Formats: sequence, structure tokens, C-alpha cells
Amino acid sequence: MAASLPRRTLLRILGSAGAFLGLVRPAAAALFPTPPQSTGPFYPPPADRLTDTDWDLVKVAGRVRAAGSEVMHLSGRVLGGDGAPIAGALIEIWQCDANGRYLHSGDVSQTRPRDPDFQGYGVTRTEAQGRYRFRTILPVEYPGRTPHIHARIQRADGSELITQIYLKDHPLNQRDFLFRRLGGAAQAAASITPARRDDGDLEAGFDFVI
Ligand SMILES: [Fe+2]
Repeated sequence: MAASLPRRTLLRILGSAGAFLGLVRPAAAALFPTPPQSTGPFYPPPADRLTDTDWDLVKVAGRVRAAGSEVMHLSGRVLGGDGAPIAGALIEIWQCDANGRYLHSGDVSQTRPRDPDFQGYGVTRTEAQGRYRFRTILPVEYPGRTPHIHARIQRADGSELITQIYLKDHPLNQRDFLFRRLGGAAQAAASITPARRDDGDLEAGFDFVI
């Protein structure tokens, strides 16, 4: 009997039955965008950066020691709001060292010395599937701020996102003026949950949605 129906009618019937039964996958829901956050006063200017600006902030070229604090592997993807991976995006991250010092000549608020074995700033580019990785340190607090990592993502089309990544459920988050300014969903979208690896390092995943 179905064979006698026009093909287009048959497809329409099958399509609505499939949707009714949950067989037809609905269009992908838009991903929650990574919230933009202020650049802050300590984005390392080129003159203050080390010669080494690669993805590994724990090892500075030419130095024997590794940075102080806990090593954290941060990796993930850069995605569009529709979930499509964005290849070739430039990602910069910067954060203070274990002593709370930024790689910035204007950071004179601290009395403790800068850790010369921490790179403080690193840059990489996403691969074909939008993937990136950094080796850095678990972010630490400094006066007035809860722990965070600054990030700037630039797409090939010139659009950019500047944001900050927080530690989920860190006790200082609720006293941090920039973290509190984000709504609950945006706070979750800007937070990582580091986990301990077998080798003792920490690892955390974070997708930038821009
Ligand atoms: Fe900061």
C-alpha cells in the first residue's frame, strides 16, 4: 500500500513518525558561549615576554629548573557556537607565577621575586580539529583575585575573545569581583576542574566557545 503513495508523501510520513519516535536527531543545541572577561592590567607586552613563548610555560628554554608550583596540563578545543571546531585559531594564555607575579614590568605590587623558571605567557594555534594544549601551573591567588588564567583567542577572520579561566568551587571565587559579576551559567562555563594524573601532574579540559 505504501508503495502506491507518491515518494515525497511517503518521506514526509516517515519523517514525522521518526521525529515522533525520537529517531530523527534534532538540530544541535547552541553551545553556551565562553563569557568575555577583562584583559586585566598584566597582559604581557612584547617587550616583557621571554624569548621562549611556546605552549609549555613550565619549561623556559635555556633553564634547567622547572617552574615552581603544581604542573597542570590544560587542553581542549576552540569551537563555534554550533559546535564546529575552529582550526588555526591563535590562543595566548598568561597567568601569575607561584609567587603571584606576572611577566609584566608594571607588576610591582608584590614584594616576592618573580619565578625565573616560569614562562608566564604562552601562545599556540589550534589544529585541524580545533584542539590545543598548554603545559602550565595550577593558577594561584594573588592579593585581590581568586586563582585564574587569562586567555585571548583570535580567529583567522579577525574576531577575538578575551576571557579568564577559574577553578571550580575555589573558596575565594565568591569573594572575587570579576567572578561574581558572571552569572551562574557563565561561571560554570568559565571554570575548570583539575584532576590528578597517574604521574602526579594535574590535567584539566577547557573548550573555548566563541
Ligand atoms: Fe589576573
